[in-house]
Amino acid sequence: MSCGCHRHAADYHTLTKMEINGKYFRSYLEREEAYRKQYSAERIKRQHSKGKLTAHERIALLFDSGTFEEIDAYVTPSDQGVEFGKVEMAYGDGVVTGHGKIDGRLVFAFAQDFTIMGGSLGIVHARKIAKVQEMALKMGAPFIGINDSGGARIQEGIASLNGYAAIFNNIIQSSGIIPQLSVIMGPAAGGAVYAPALTDWVFMTSNTSYMFVTGPNVVREVLNEEISSEDLGGAEVHARRSGVANMIYDDEENTIIAVRKFLSYLPSNNLENPPATEYSGDTPDINPRLREIVPDDPNKAYDVRDVINLVVDRNSFFEASELFAPNIITGFGRMKGKTIGVVANQPKVLAGVLDIDSSTKAARFIRFCDAFNIPILTLEDVPGFLPGKDQEHSGIIRHGAKLLFAYAEATVPRITVILRKAYGGAYIVMNSRGMGGDFNYAWPSAEIAVMGPDGAVAILYRRELAAAADPVALKKELLKKYREKVANPFIADEKGYIDEVIDPATTREKVLSALAALENKSVKVPSRKHGNMPL
Ligand code: HXC
Repeated sequence: MSCGCHRHAADYHTLTKMEINGKYFRSYLEREEAYRKQYSAERIKRQHSKGKLTAHERIALLFDSGTFEEIDAYVTPSDQGVEFGKVEMAYGDGVVTGHGKIDGRLVFAFAQDFTIMGGSLGIVHARKIAKVQEMALKMGAPFIGINDSGGARIQEGIASLNGYAAIFNNIIQSSGIIPQLSVIMGPAAGGAVYAPALTDWVFMTSNTSYMFVTGPNVVREVLNEEISSEDLGGAEVHARRSGVANMIYDDEENTIIAVRKFLSYLPSNNLENPPATEYSGDTPDINPRLREIVPDDPNKAYDVRDVINLVVDRNSFFEASELFAPNIITGFGRMKGKTIGVVANQPKVLAGVLDIDSSTKAARFIRFCDAFNIPILTLEDVPGFLPGKDQEHSGIIRHGAKLLFAYAEATVPRITVILRKAYGGAYIVMNSRGMGGDFNYAWPSAEIAVMGPDGAVAILYRRELAAAADPVALKKELLKKYREKVANPFIADEKGYIDEVIDPATTREKVLSALAALENKSVKVPSRKHGNMPL
């Protein structure tokens, strides 16, 4: 497979057969030939034998056919100051960089080339990446990095480390201005992992990619523990446990297809609105099936995705970070073709409780949406924060505060629909009116109060229950009274804390109308360097 760029285009051979007289043109062709030859069949085979594609093959899959323009293909590595080992004088210095179109939109990218010195990052390699990063920022175009590298090039020492520093710095300067995506398709080890970690989204391919700050050898030496690369920092570990990876796929082709699709939800930069796709009109604005999803029994679980999929345009929901903290769902959907971000408590997992991981997952998602003009729809069914020593000692106060901060800071349109439980601090956090929610609706099944009925009755009627002849009957009566007098949405509606109790069937219609009303929302943010989010 070629990358579709001019260097590999099918008319290359036609070109060589042409009558060529000028010596400069001949040397141009010779160099092209040398470039192609450096990718020997054996090198490519070695890469393929690991279940991996080459850098050019990945680029070819990523970009619209024939649109990729490679930059700096003929630069050669620096061997200045190399006193140990040797540097292979390969064209391109182990990384392919350039720009092309994805769905017709300009995108800059690099793909590290493991077949050249293990894709290790020397100073020239780093400068190439920095150059396209800076171009992407100037052009307001998304940036994608395909990582497959042994890390800092050992032979180049400090020069290589400095190269990383420039790359990190560029990512940080571009953060919130252009979307930055990382795709891990091989090793990412040592400090090098911070390049992807600093970007907005990390995609990994199962079984062939891994990320760790210190590898299995160091773990063995320092801790005397045996662990494989996969178990230490494979795709599954980072998607489920650490949260470093947002999306993982079984093979490289599917990973790249997903990256292309994911990008279709995002604007090219923070000054643009997300691209709108044509809406086929096949999603009913009023759908009675929405009335049947939340069970009558408040302790019964359901899958909030069933609600999401009936509210957003049919088949438009792209779940982000699906495997990490599954008690909260985050992802992008479309409403009549326009991108929205969805944050939804998931009653199916841990009853949808908020804990450290779900708070940080949602907070980061909200901040991304806010940076890139993506309205946020919050679907709420949350019994509260997860109790326990584990959570308290690990800092649920600090991490839960991130979610509060992220919501309150967001100036994009913010709409909440309370589906069922909305108790205590968790009610406040989940984009309540008081936190700046623009439109707050509740279904008739909503329970809005300081705490759930059982807790409230136990605290307020402890003595009466202890003295009662029939405590079970008394408790039942008190629970009923609490639901009627306190924990129902009509009180919140009548007191003006929500905008309306709505028929669940009309949810999509209401959200569409709210989005239309908020289309030109504009908020003046006080001038300051930045807030001080609890990190
Ligand atoms: C120079 C490197 C290299 C490196 C690999 N190669 N890593 N060359 N610098 N960092 C070369 C190998 O010498 C080899 O060259 C070729 O790439 C392929 O590597 P193999 O080891 O044969 O491949 P494989 O068995 O698949 O193992 C891949 C690997 C291993 C696990 C990545 O190469 C490895 O452990 N490399 C070192 C990883 C590391 O510790 N890097 C530094 C991290 S610290 P030949 O000529 O034989 O083909 C870091 C700091 C960043 O990056 C700081 C940021 C602030």
